[in-house]
Amino acid sequence: MKAMVAEPPKRNSVKLVEIPKPLPKQGQVLLKTLSVGIDGTDREINEGIYGSPPSGSRYLVLGHEALARVQEVGDQVENFSEGDVVVPTVRRPCKENCLNCRTGISDFCLTGNYFEHGIYKLHGFASEYAVSDADFLIRIPPELGNLAVLLEPLSIVEKAVTQSFKIQERMMWKPKRAFVVGAGPLGLLATMILRLKGLEVYAAATREKESLKAKIVRNVGGTYVNVRETPIKTLEEKFDIVIEATGRVEAALEALSLLGPNSVMCFLGVYREKRACEEFGKVLTNMVLGNRLMFGSVSSNKSHFEMGIKDMLEIKRRYKDALNRLITRKLHLSDFEQAFRSEREDVKTIIHFK
Ligand code: BGC
Ligand code: ZN
Repeated sequence: MKAMVAEPPKRNSVKLVEIPKPLPKQGQVLLKTLSVGIDGTDREINEGIYGSPPSGSRYLVLGHEALARVQEVGDQVENFSEGDVVVPTVRRPCKENCLNCRTGISDFCLTGNYFEHGIYKLHGFASEYAVSDADFLIRIPPELGNLAVLLEPLSIVEKAVTQSFKIQERMMWKPKRAFVVGAGPLGLLATMILRLKGLEVYAAATREKESLKAKIVRNVGGTYVNVRETPIKTLEEKFDIVIEATGRVEAALEALSLLGPNSVMCFLGVYREKRACEEFGKVLTNMVLGNRLMFGSVSSNKSHFEMGIKDMLEIKRRYKDALNRLITRKLHLSDFEQAFRSEREDVKTIIHFK
């Protein structure tokens, strides 16, 4: 069968290869992949700066954002049968005596020895067939159709937002205004989820006011800020919640000025640039004097995928085709290389498997 693989830490190693079709073991299912989404993590794996093949393999099958159909079930699989449409979660528990992995929240793994399909020590789903433990599959209602390929990135946002709200239970908190830095898939999905929660939402990016990203923000009742015209540091409003979804140090530091009293900021990027913050003392004092809080959030667990399904249905109901508009490129597997070249108006690229 055909598979899209990379060989980290080699640079630009992504290619299509023929590999043997996997067999589902006990408790596993064989999946027929329908589509995979490509994100920044896939591009970083292709750049050779992230990711790791399974032990004993030279290559890593990519694809952690997937939509698939159950083709065959292994022994002792009871909840799924042939034909079910599913999205697999990404992270799998470590094998140690880890409280969080043992209780279904491996997104909070304590040992760091977790596995991630398509990223870290487990093959992904960008192959004609793939296997996953049945316990980590999310059943997709037919109404969602192909849009469910967005469920994995949405689960990342669901976790970030739920965690923000949970953390803020430290006091009485009635958030009114949110600011989302970045309008890639995560930023736009965060904008939608915060709108569903009834917040006034600002989303900022570098694209012009008539760009697709700006239109999607307005489509869901948000306010778009073009930071080339209106730099974040010139904004005087303060916000209850700030979500950083650019992965850029510069943008993240600038966004600190948006934090109102008792507010919370969630970081979703992997910040690779080296950049010192000369005013770190001021940043810390500002955190203390305003009870402000910053936290990072990575990965997600089944509960966030389940929340994502409910919210996707609600977004469809309220904002019609807002989710469809995020999918800007649909490529066939044979054109996979294009997915690793970014295009100006691209939001989410999907690769289809026949
Ligand atoms: C994935 C997460 C994963 C993270 C770090 C992201 O792109 O969506 O599931 O935990 O990368 O590997
Ligand atoms: Zn663990």
